[in-house]
Amino acid sequence: MKVLVTGGAGYIGSVAVESLRAAGHTVAVFDNLYMGHREAVDPEVTFFEADLADRKAVDEALASFAPDSIMHFAAYSLVGESVEKPFKYLGDNVVNGINLIESAIEHGVERFILSSTANLFDEPETIPISEKEKLIPGSPYGESKFFLERILHWANRTKGLRYAALRYFNAAGCTATRGEDHDPETHLIPLILQVALGQRENIKIFGDDYDTNDGTCIRDYIHVSDLAQAHILALEALKEHETLHYNLGNGSGFSVKEVVETVREVTGHPIPAETTPRRAGDPAMLIADSRKVRSELGWDPQYPDLKSIVQSAWDWHQAHPNGY
Ligand code: UFG
Repeated sequence: MKVLVTGGAGYIGSVAVESLRAAGHTVAVFDNLYMGHREAVDPEVTFFEADLADRKAVDEALASFAPDSIMHFAAYSLVGESVEKPFKYLGDNVVNGINLIESAIEHGVERFILSSTANLFDEPETIPISEKEKLIPGSPYGESKFFLERILHWANRTKGLRYAALRYFNAAGCTATRGEDHDPETHLIPLILQVALGQRENIKIFGDDYDTNDGTCIRDYIHVSDLAQAHILALEALKEHETLHYNLGNGSGFSVKEVVETVREVTGHPIPAETTPRRAGDPAMLIADSRKVRSELGWDPQYPDLKSIVQSAWDWHQAHPNGY
């Protein structure tokens, strides 16, 4: 298929591009390089350096590449920042998404895959969290993805655009050539690896008074390559289905302290840790029930254990100590 990947110079998008190409699809990347890296885009891939806020640029890219599908990764994605700057998220993420969706419909795109989030589940009644759980966004970031899921619902109902909303839990790990390089970095695993690399003195543990076994937050870490595979399966499944909604995680949770311990094991570095107050907006526990995507699409994550995920990240960060 011909797939336009927005955010294809970013962390998860660039791995999706790699996997799509390996699966034989023709790919173009649309990215403003605000957070993405030019080096993460394969020189053989058509690259539109442009902003989704620029509707004319979106129309031009869709007219010239003429994709039959879109994977939409480009967005602001920090829960904490979205609490500080709600309108950046409620505005840009939503308006940019509408520009893309409307243009997609006008240019005859048939299938659309949205990067959605576990931040739709702020107050889960049942853990692990299945697709039956009520959607209660936990932040302006989560709300922006909730809006986009709803906009896609109506794009499907009124204009026939087929879509999949894939709700990632905690994306982690790296491939041999694509890794996690944010500036500033806020994510747990790359921050701990910076300690192992001697770039940071210690890791701050944001709160140890949560209602969990060791008091620190529990998350479900899923490898980026496994996320990318889920996108490819969803893309194919949209041939038969109008809409798909899946929660993507490994189905097991690790506390912040357990993640620190795993990085100690993998890197052999002592990783000093210091407990600080909680970070605003962090739910105590997010674990996915991903049985639906496994049974319906045959999704079979290749990195089911945290150690192999951390090892893949450690390999990339050692090879790229200063990022791309
Ligand atoms: N944490 C620390 N210290 C740090 C950084 C993080 O203790 O220096 C903790 C956080 O409090 C949290 C856990 O480590 O409990 C994971 O934090 P991340 O920032 O790595 O990831 P989040 O769970 O906050 O967010 C990620 C994505 C979001 C997505 C969310 C869905 O970044 O886009 O998962 O669960 F919405």
